[in-house]
Amino acid sequence: MKKIVVGIDGSEASKNALRWAVDEARLRDAQVVALHAWETPIASPDATPAQSLDVVTAVTESHEAASQLVTEIVEEVVGDDPNQTVTPLAVEGAAAATLLDAARDAGLLVVGSRGLGDFGALLLGSVSQECAQHAPCPVLIHRSGERVRK
Ligand SMILES: Nc1ncnc2c1ncn2[C@@H]1O[C@H](COP(=O)(O)OP(=O)(O)OP(=O)(O)O)[C@@H](O)[C@H]1O
Ligand SMILES: [Mg+2]
Repeated sequence: MKKIVVGIDGSEASKNALRWAVDEARLRDAQVVALHAWETPIASPDATPAQSLDVVTAVTESHEAASQLVTEIVEEVVGDDPNQTVTPLAVEGAAAATLLDAARDAGLLVVGSRGLGDFGALLLGSVSQECAQHAPCPVLIHRSGERVRK
């Protein structure tokens, strides 16, 4: 297998999904791409030039924050294991669409069943649901068991 794409949103569920993907990659001799999708802050149509400039700054900062988040999570989960390459990637775009696009040339897409969302009773979040429905490759929904069905 060539590439395993894992969705990272900063949640424990996505870290557990990454742990699973790294173990799987070892067995299959695959490369792991840990992908965090982030969205651009939107300028109001009647923003002043100064306010619009603020949005440019915000985009730069958002990209840096997104890169930092996914890099730190990869370091936390993989440590400095020289036998496993995990590429952290921050991509601007809606989460599900970005993951589905990245999965087009992947052998496996891995997401947590839930993420940062707070709606306790859901079994699947909107991103994992969309990935399950539209993935262009096999998809693994990783359930960590941290949420119990009531
Ligand atoms: N911005 C993102 N970038 C990359 N992967 C993501 C992103 N958001 C979610 N995911 C992936 O999808 C999994 C499920 O998250 P999802 O957002 O579907 O659930 P939720 O946050 O609990 O619910 P919702 O966002 O629908 O309120 C996460 O564990 C992660 O693997
Ligand atoms: Mg979410």
